[in-house]
Amino acid sequence: MDITNRTVFIAGGTTGIGAGLARRLTAAGSTVVVGGRSAGGDADLESVRLDVTDPASVLRARDEVLDRHPDLDLVVTMAGVMRTEDLRDPAHAADAEHTVAVNLLGTLRVLDAFTPHLVEQGHGDFLTVTSGIAFMPFPLMATYGATKAAVHSYSESLREHLAGTGVGVTELVPPAVATAGQEQLNPAALPLDDYLDEAIALLTQEPTPREVVVERAQRLRWAERDGTYAELLEQRSRSLGVLRQDDGR
Ligand SMILES: NC(=O)c1ccc[n+]([C@@H]2O[C@H](COP(=O)([O-])OP(=O)(O)OC[C@H]3O[C@@H](n4cnc5c(N)ncnc54)[C@H](OP(=O)(O)O)[C@@H]3O)[C@@H](O)[C@H]2O)c1
Repeated sequence: MDITNRTVFIAGGTTGIGAGLARRLTAAGSTVVVGGRSAGGDADLESVRLDVTDPASVLRARDEVLDRHPDLDLVVTMAGVMRTEDLRDPAHAADAEHTVAVNLLGTLRVLDAFTPHLVEQGHGDFLTVTSGIAFMPFPLMATYGATKAAVHSYSESLREHLAGTGVGVTELVPPAVATAGQEQLNPAALPLDDYLDEAIALLTQEPTPREVVVERAQRLRWAERDGTYAELLEQRSRSLGVLRQDDGR
């Protein structure tokens, strides 16, 4: 994929990986607008206000972006939340519903909002964002994993629906990256710049890959194929000990 001359909207680009990607794409020569609830907080980035849980907000943001940039040709569905949940406590439902609203429904809304424009234009790309956790659960973040697995499946279907229209679908599959508090929670998280270096090198290959899976995400992405799934799931389930310590179970 060429990234030197694109007009890009990153839904969920106000912080973290999205903001980092926005800077890299801008440095490569593209024009980038980021969207999020905290739009305007970063004077370096052109932004629009966007809450993906609100269908009207998504359509307003879409109209604003297309008014300013009628040649938009790359849309990134980066908006996401990562919450831990205790599934023994039904009170987790509020976190689960919010996670579905942002990560799954929010992604679908953004894709739907921009599909007519890209199809009518006859060229462009969607970049969806899942996680290694889409392919190998991290049980402490159960709904997060479920939404990312859903976005993976949806991306596969969307690519087939759009075949022949000139609009491509590529899925970013990040491993743990040192953003959004992962810096503190997970010392093994990949520094953002290292992630972006590797992800962009893969993304810009020709032909554009269907999935961008950096080295660190490979063992999660391919655990089932590699026969390591059960062992990794058992290892990753040890994180649930945090919940048991909290309540003495
Ligand atoms: N960091 C990791 O370890 C990791 C690993 C795998 C996948 N990912 C995925 O990468 C993406 C970015 O994560 P990150 O680590 O960069 O986290 P982050 O810094 O918290 O960024 C999340 C982005 O989503 C936006 N967002 C959240 N709720 C929103 C809403 N209701 N409407 C619109 N935008 C919303 C935030 O903007 P506002 O707050 O301004 O609304 C922010 O721009 C997420 O999809 C995440 O699941 C991250």
